[in-house]
Amino acid sequence: MAILVTGGAGYIGSHTCVELIGAGYQPIVVDNLSNSNREALFRVETISGQQVPFYNCDIGDQQELRKVFSEHNIESVIHFAGFKAVGESVEQPLRYYQNNVAGTLAVIEVMEEFGVYRMIFSSSATVYGEPETVPIKESFPTGATNPYGASKLIVESILRDICAAPQSLWRVSLLRYFNPIGAHESGKIGEDPQGIPNNLLPFVSQVAVGRRPYLQVFGDDYDTVDGTGVRDYIHVVDLALGHLAALGLIEKQTTQEGCYTYNLGTGRGSSVFEVVRAFEKVSGREVPFKVLPRRPGDIAEYYANPELAEKELGWKAEYDLERMVEDAWRWQSQNPKGYSTD
Ligand code: NAD
Ligand code: WQD
Repeated sequence: MAILVTGGAGYIGSHTCVELIGAGYQPIVVDNLSNSNREALFRVETISGQQVPFYNCDIGDQQELRKVFSEHNIESVIHFAGFKAVGESVEQPLRYYQNNVAGTLAVIEVMEEFGVYRMIFSSSATVYGEPETVPIKESFPTGATNPYGASKLIVESILRDICAAPQSLWRVSLLRYFNPIGAHESGKIGEDPQGIPNNLLPFVSQVAVGRRPYLQVFGDDYDTVDGTGVRDYIHVVDLALGHLAALGLIEKQTTQEGCYTYNLGTGRGSSVFEVVRAFEKVSGREVPFKVLPRRPGDIAEYYANPELAEKELGWKAEYDLERMVEDAWRWQSQNPKGYSTD
């Protein structure tokens, strides 16, 4: 069964392609490589021993998308393509709305033309804004604190509305990811951010491998276990498997319309210092750090209640922090410059 994977050359997309192939699906990748490297997909092919048809195409280019749908019998779409840097979205909001919202509309329209009505959408825990309590349930109020988060909320609304329209044939799963980290156990694919990493894990990895001198810890005066920010880190392979579980659900629904929302997280929080310690233990390297003031917009503690996904998708994250960090380190130490060859 062919599954269109937009953004399939990216961090989560490449890991999902491996798991799709393992489960007997044929991923077809559309990616404009704006934040990824073609090499990632060659490595997916090496890991899985199977070719992955690739289109170097922008999701906004409907002519090219039509070609993809004409050439393959696509059953469902897993839609990862989009921009994801919170700070950048504040500086360039229009670019974010254009790519994340208009780009998604372009995909949805072509899907309708070809009678493909199943989509899994990459949403984010950022849609909960500043939750009043943790753990966070899907029923909690949403609210964006930046254009990136707003773009995710807008797309969620669009997908919910097209599912709710009379006689709608759409089946959609909105997956709200917490903090994906780690890499495939082979060490061949992993997270390869361009420029200075925004997120904690790639930054810690680059410090451990000697690419950066020290980690900046953004605040140690939060009301948390050790004063640093607490997040729900989830292994990227667990996350990829969550997409397979969601695919199973939307494939099964035949008569009732539906848009289903799930948190994909572990339900456990880890502090910045806990992540640093785990990394030092696994890598045997020191991770020097300096404590800086809090990063604007950050909140103290954020983790999922993942029970709904377990109940309805039969999916649960399996890997613990140590395993996530171990796999991240294998990827980083085997590929100190990521996919780049210079
Ligand atoms: P990523 O940047 O590694 O992957 C996104 C891919 O989409 C990249 O390969 C990029 O080249 C491609 N892309 C972007 N715009 C495109 C366009 N117009 N046409 C074609 N391809 C395009 O990011 P990721 O971490 O793999 O994230 C995947 C999705 O999950 C994104 O939608 C992101 O917002 C969402 N998400 C990520 C996180 C996270 O922390 N990584 C958390 C929550 C949600
Ligand atoms: C984690 C913790 C930081 C970097 C972001 C997006 C969110 C989602 C995931 C896409 C916090 C601390 C970080 C550093 C640090 N992405 N930190 N030094 O902020 O939870 O979420 O990525 O949807 O939308 O906002 O993740 O990895 O940036 O930060 O001390 O150099 O690490 O303060 O406590 P965050 P993060």
